[in-house]
Amino acid sequence: MEKIIEMRNIRKTFLGNVANNNINFVIYKGEIVSLLGENGAGKTTLMKILYGMYTKDSGEIYVNGRKVEINSPKDAIALGIGMVHQHFTLVRTLTVLENVILGLPSPKGFELDLESARKKLQEIIKKYKLVVDPDAKIWQLSVGERQRVEIIKALYRDINVLILDEPTAVLTPQEVEELFATLRIFKNEGKSVVFISHKLEEVMEISDRIVILRNGVVTGERKKEETNERELARLMVGKEVIEALRKEGGTVGAPVLKVEGIKALNDKGILALKGINFEVRKGEILGVAGVAGNGQKELEDVICGVRNPLEGHIYLKDKEVTGKSPKEIVNMGIGRIPEDRMESGLILDIPVYENLVIEFYDKPPFSKGMLINYAEIKRFAEKLVKEYRVKTSSIYAITRTLSGGNLQKLILARVLSQNPEFLIASQPTRGLDVGAMEYIHQKLLEAKTKGAAIMLISEDLNEILHLSDRIMVMYEGEIMGIIDRSKEDVDIEELGLMMAGAKRRVAL
Ligand SMILES: Nc1ncnc2c1ncn2[C@@H]1O[C@H](COP(=O)(O)OP(=O)(O)OP(=O)(O)O)[C@@H](O)[C@H]1O
Ligand SMILES: [Mg+2]
Repeated sequence: MEKIIEMRNIRKTFLGNVANNNINFVIYKGEIVSLLGENGAGKTTLMKILYGMYTKDSGEIYVNGRKVEINSPKDAIALGIGMVHQHFTLVRTLTVLENVILGLPSPKGFELDLESARKKLQEIIKKYKLVVDPDAKIWQLSVGERQRVEIIKALYRDINVLILDEPTAVLTPQEVEELFATLRIFKNEGKSVVFISHKLEEVMEISDRIVILRNGVVTGERKKEETNERELARLMVGKEVIEALRKEGGTVGAPVLKVEGIKALNDKGILALKGINFEVRKGEILGVAGVAGNGQKELEDVICGVRNPLEGHIYLKDKEVTGKSPKEIVNMGIGRIPEDRMESGLILDIPVYENLVIEFYDKPPFSKGMLINYAEIKRFAEKLVKEYRVKTSSIYAITRTLSGGNLQKLILARVLSQNPEFLIASQPTRGLDVGAMEYIHQKLLEAKTKGAAIMLISEDLNEILHLSDRIMVMYEGEIMGIIDRSKEDVDIEELGLMMAGAKRRVAL
């Protein structure tokens, strides 16, 4: 096979922290190669070096056998390398077409340019099956569609190597299949894809070859036919991972959270919750299943006081929650692991230890009267960082420098440390590697056994099935049904039909 890219002895440190330790990585022509590794393993760093966003400390990069210096994404694109990031970079107020041509040199007259650009865009849409309206504004698009625009933007620049950094973390199962179809078309043209993911199942489905990173070094390389999920997991975390999950354990008690007749609008002013009723009981995990965008996010927001309902009430035991501020709601004993951790879970420009106490630094034991007890805060932070295996140079590191997965662990640590009476966990393991995922699952089960009432919102059906005592299905702002596993087995086909809105159980 022909090498298109070769990275040799790549080393990159951040303030003495080794992110890439003499990595050798090859990309062949016409292959889909996965980069697999735990949070903080160095995947994003390696690919940002190839894309010219980070400067390597040492090492060499060859493109088509020729040694190159890549000092900016512009250089990378000129060499045929494109990258779609973990966090999107589109301009919300511009259209798809405008975003795609943004930043390109414009040699001809503007209007002429726009017409030929539109034509080229249409061709890409058709050829790669990347369905999106060229004239839609970015803010009007779903997350999946925005990702398509990012990919179109890269393909528009005539690249031969497409790097995707955890592209499926934000997609529904249906969208994942569509993305894979696009990648296969690209590959069949003799082009190459680097696919970064934690999801072993997906890696096994889409890759020709898998390269595994751990702690900044390559720990293995396998052809897809020569390996399996179990082996990959072991190479990734350095031990066999067996998800020992059970839904039993503890006893289910009285209702802790009661939701009565809640109606609410979404950000676009459309009715997203159409009058829903349910309870979450002490010592149970209520899983909320459903394709993203069916009201889960709005429900989470309403419970946590960041979105006002039009109608209805929410009670924590017998205290009314509706109408309270987010801070008051936290104080009442409701913990939240929010879906958009980057935006509402953490302040990225402060040290790690401050984020760990941000919701309660003004309460004992962290403060006494007006005095903040920094020694206690730091002791607490050290303990959580250790217990939750947050990978950071120290508790004083600026939060922004942590890898995606480690940011998520920070929030989980903070919320679970408070032993909340009711906990709402939204996509709690999205973007986490198998080791961290297993750990979080254990922690949620532990909290449940200790008596917490937990509502788990997840697009990952396996996660819902692993953890939930009862499964509630949402579709277009309504509850399609609740499956109580103490009374019946789950019929996966029925669950799928409910998620697709094709089956409704008797109103509950
Ligand atoms: N800009 C930065 N400044 C300081 N440290 C950084 C920076 N980017 C990454 N690091 C550190 O380098 C290491 C590797 O991070 P990287 O983001 O490459 O991991 P990753 O494998 O992509 O993880 P994840 O799966 O969580 O996204 C981590 O310890 C991280 O804290
Ligand atoms: Mg990353």
